[in-house]
Amino acid sequence: MEEPRSQSIGVVGLGTVGGALFEALSRAGHDVIGYDPYLKVGAPESLIGCSLVFVCVPTPSGEEGQLDTSAVWKAVRDLEASLDAGTVVAIKSTVPPGTVAALSRDFPEFDFASVPEFLVGARPLETLTRPDRILIGASTHRAFEEVRRVMVAVAPFAPILSLRPIEAELAKLASNAALAAKVSIANELALICDSFGVPWTAVQPAVGMDRRIGPEHLTVTEERGFTGGCLPKDLDGLIAAARSQGEAATMLSAIRDFNDVVRARVSKV
Ligand SMILES: NC(=O)c1ccc[n+]([C@@H]2O[C@H](COP(=O)([O-])OP(=O)(O)OC[C@H]3O[C@@H](n4cnc5c(N)ncnc54)[C@H](O)[C@@H]3O)[C@@H](O)[C@H]2O)c1
Repeated sequence: MEEPRSQSIGVVGLGTVGGALFEALSRAGHDVIGYDPYLKVGAPESLIGCSLVFVCVPTPSGEEGQLDTSAVWKAVRDLEASLDAGTVVAIKSTVPPGTVAALSRDFPEFDFASVPEFLVGARPLETLTRPDRILIGASTHRAFEEVRRVMVAVAPFAPILSLRPIEAELAKLASNAALAAKVSIANELALICDSFGVPWTAVQPAVGMDRRIGPEHLTVTEERGFTGGCLPKDLDGLIAAARSQGEAATMLSAIRDFNDVVRARVSKV
């Protein structure tokens, strides 16, 4: 008997995350349709008939450090007329806690889920298809099942956690904050080792071999600290989100400040 043809999957925003996801979905045998107006790929109408759409648009830092979700809203608004009611819209962009809940209020016809991405920018396809875990923060069981079915084909070895949308949003930001903290502590330890005339590289492996600590993110680069498109902006985004709730996020702020100091200190050498 012939297998029923699965419905098309949309990918909106075809940069690092969307481009890798498009490729991984295609390799997993899905019929994938991309839309990225800035790359002149597709159109909102190309996504007519998609049962699931992944949103992978940028969320840069706003003026107060908050993650700016205007591209997310614009993407969903652009697609509104083309997607059927009940379409599952999975947000892969890194967003502030509460974003999926707010989208669900503004676009009640869609079934939203938070499916944060953890890929490494230098190895996008490899790391997107072999993540340590997949988080699915779905608003309904139907959305969870739809996303789960697709993600199992994309990353067959990854454990899947079912969370509430806000829990998945917080887990993404908390993970990047923890990684930033680890880089910072390694950088401070390197300064202390240095002050004793001991290179951090002589101490680092002994620290990283402790399984409670682990070897990743302990390397101190020539530029020091953390940089790139994700850790600084996501840390700022979490600090801003915490402050909006009246939480000072003192530790995270110290990590952010220390990162600026340690990077400036080295650039002066
Ligand atoms: N790059 C990473 O390593 C990484 C890892 C995990 C999560 N993320 C998160 O994923 C999101 C996307 O990151 P990225 O690195 O892929 O960004 P990117 O800048 O590489 O790509 C974003 C793409 O979205 C397109 N776009 C912008 N507005 C759009 C709209 N309204 N409709 C359709 N397309 C639109 C742009 O043209 C661009 O091609 C961000 O929230 C980021 O924080 C990134």
